[in-house]
Order: sequence, then C-alpha cells, then structure tokens
Amino acid sequence: MGSAAASPPPSGSPLPSQDELKRVAAHRAVEFVEPGMTLGLGTGSTAAHALDRIGDLLRAGALPGVAGVPTSLKTELHASRAGIPLLPLGGAAGPARIHLSIDGADEVDADLNLVKGRGGSLLREKMIEGAGERFVVIVDESKLVPRLGCTGAIPVEVVPFGAPHTLGLIRKVFDGLPGFSARLRTVKKDAAEEMFVTDNGNYIVEMFFEDGVRGDLRGISDSLLRITGVVEHGMFLGMATTVVVANRDGTVTLLH
Ligand code: 5RP
Repeated sequence: MGSAAASPPPSGSPLPSQDELKRVAAHRAVEFVEPGMTLGLGTGSTAAHALDRIGDLLRAGALPGVAGVPTSLKTELHASRAGIPLLPLGGAAGPARIHLSIDGADEVDADLNLVKGRGGSLLREKMIEGAGERFVVIVDESKLVPRLGCTGAIPVEVVPFGAPHTLGLIRKVFDGLPGFSARLRTVKKDAAEEMFVTDNGNYIVEMFFEDGVRGDLRGISDSLLRITGVVEHGMFLGMATTVVVANRDGTVTLLH
C-alpha cells in the first residue's frame, strides 16, 4: 500500500467535525473526475457530499458530458436533484463503461479491503463499483481499522424466501467461532419492529465478530457466496483503487 499526504492547515484552527472531514474527502475525490466520464455514484453521507460537489461543477460548466450510475434509490433521487444526468447499468450496447466510482465505506483495512453496506446498498454498490475502471473510496480516519468487522456488522444480502434458513447456514460457516453472532436486520416502524428491506426487495443478515474477521477473507467470501439464498456480502475485497482519508489534523492522505 502506498500513501501520499497533503499538508495540514495552520495551527490554531478548530478541529473539524466528522461531517466536515467527510466533505473534505469527497471534494478531494471529485478532483479525479474529468469531462465526459461516466461515474459510479455511491450511497451514504460521505458520498452525498460528492454528489453535491459534482452537481455544482456540472452547473458551473466545469464537467461537460459527465453522467452517473446511482448505487441506490436514495442516490438516484439526490443525484437527479443535484442535476447529474443518470444512466442505467448497461443497455442495448452491452455492459456499461464506468470510468470512476466514488463511494464511502464503513471500514477500510490496511490492504484497502472494505466493509460496505451498513446503509443497506451493498448489492448495487458492488455491481457498479466492481464494473468500473477505478474505485475511489472516501472516508474520514475513523473508518480505518486493523480488521474488517471491528467496529460493527458485516452485512449480507439474502433473499426473503427462507431467510431464517439462510441465516442458519451463514451461522454454520462460523460454527464455534467465539464471539460470532448473526441476526436479520430489523427497523423500528411506529412501535413495531419490521424487517429491513433493501432496494432490491431483499433482507440483510448482520454478522458480528468480537474483534473483527481473522483468517482467509477470500475463503470466507467464497463460503458465503456458495450458500444458495445469499445474494452478496458487504466485504469488498481488492476493489478499491484509491482511498482518500480525511484526517482530524486537517491533512488528507491518499492510499493506493
Ligand atoms: C451504504 C454504504 C456507505 O458507503 C457506508 O455505509 C458509509 O456511509 P457514510 O458515508 O454515511 O458513513 O456502504 O451502503
């Protein structure tokens, strides 16, 4: 992994908020966008700053010909309000050509593997970001972790049919692993709990590890994807080409 850091702001400046750090990372990533590019448009509060910035630059005439493929219904709405022309993923001419995707992440490890999808959009994110030529991830430094799954759940998208059965099969992959647990994600609606449903009409299984996932991540990925009923998981292994990290001290680091 290589890295490059920008210089810090003058001393005495107040510490930036987490949202400000997200904005800084997003704006730095948008510097990679060139006229005529088709972009993968990410989902989440960090990616939202990138959408706003791209919209501003489009309106200013600085990015002619730029269009985007949204990774969620929420992003589709946000991007169209920001004035970004939208495209579907692929068409009559075949698979889409996506020059660059920009998206946030829940966690980034030292090998630039990611956890994504705590916002529930992992399937479309993986389809679009996996199809692109470059994938720039934008995070504040709190997202850097020693192991995936250290700070929260690793999500797995599953079809609703037989979801408790699929949950049981996922648990078996980690049979006997101390500190492992998994459950179907629910949301509170009025006074009741109901299943969280993704943009694709699926459910999410949340996997929790006491101190993050150890061992062969690709092997674990394969084991999960072999379960009929699992659609995709939120470990994005070897996909990020650059990670833009906004640090609390005001510097920005680019990891490759
Ligand atoms: C959504 C995602 C988001 O990129 C991830 O959850 C980070 O979100 P935020 O930028 O709001 O911290 O994967 O599915």
